Amino acid sequence: MPRRVGRNVDDKVYICKKRKDMNFLELCEKRFSVRKYTSESVSDEDLDYVMNCVRMAQSAVNFQPWKFLIARSEEAKAKLRECYNREWFSTAPMYVVCMRNVTENWVRANDGKQHGDIDVAIATEHLCLAAAERGLGTCWVGNFDAEMMKQMFPEEGYETVAVIPIGHIADDCPQAPKKRKPLSEIVKEV
Ligand SMILES: Cc1cc2nc3c(=O)[nH]c(=O)nc-3n(C[C@H](O)[C@H](O)[C@H](O)COP(=O)(O)O)c2cc1C
Repeated sequence: MPRRVGRNVDDKVYICKKRKDMNFLELCEKRFSVRKYTSESVSDEDLDYVMNCVRMAQSAVNFQPWKFLIARSEEAKAKLRECYNREWFSTAPMYVVCMRNVTENWVRANDGKQHGDIDVAIATEHLCLAAAERGLGTCWVGNFDAEMMKQMFPEEGYETVAVIPIGHIADDCPQAPKKRKPLSEIVKEV
């Protein structure tokens, strides 16, 4: 029997009990690419919370051109580990495959720019930050075998943008210090 996933926040099932005194900048600093997980499962409650944060993401014209596959079965996990064959990736107890609707995303009329990737990226970052708030680790994976992914997870009208492992962070998980460009280099007053 597969476990249930997907209660909406409207169902009022959440008690926000894990929130720490952490402002948004602290949360952004806390999140890092986790490349070693324990074998402990992610609870249904944590997963529901994270996926509701995903659901609340903004998108162009509110099209919500996305679909998220929850991969917890041994079969699905084995397939993903073929699509992205890295030792650290295999340590995760579960994954979310973040997909974009290739036909229904908003296209800017004046230059034809598709916005589906942007929409999915926003929702996926909600996922990563919500997981970090809950003390869970994630790592954005974009370097999977795209062709293999299409074959292994055929979802009509959708393509995979990112695969996100989620799990509890191993005590000896490598964590590099944040290296970011200074504001003076990336911000310009015009
Ligand atoms: C679009 C995108 C694709 C990424 N793809 C991969 C990937 O395939 N494998 C990986 O190990 N990390 C991947 N990363 C993680 C980045 O390497 C990481 O976010 C960056 O080095 C900053 O480190 P931090 O997340 O710890 O702050 C990706 C990140 C983004 C945003």
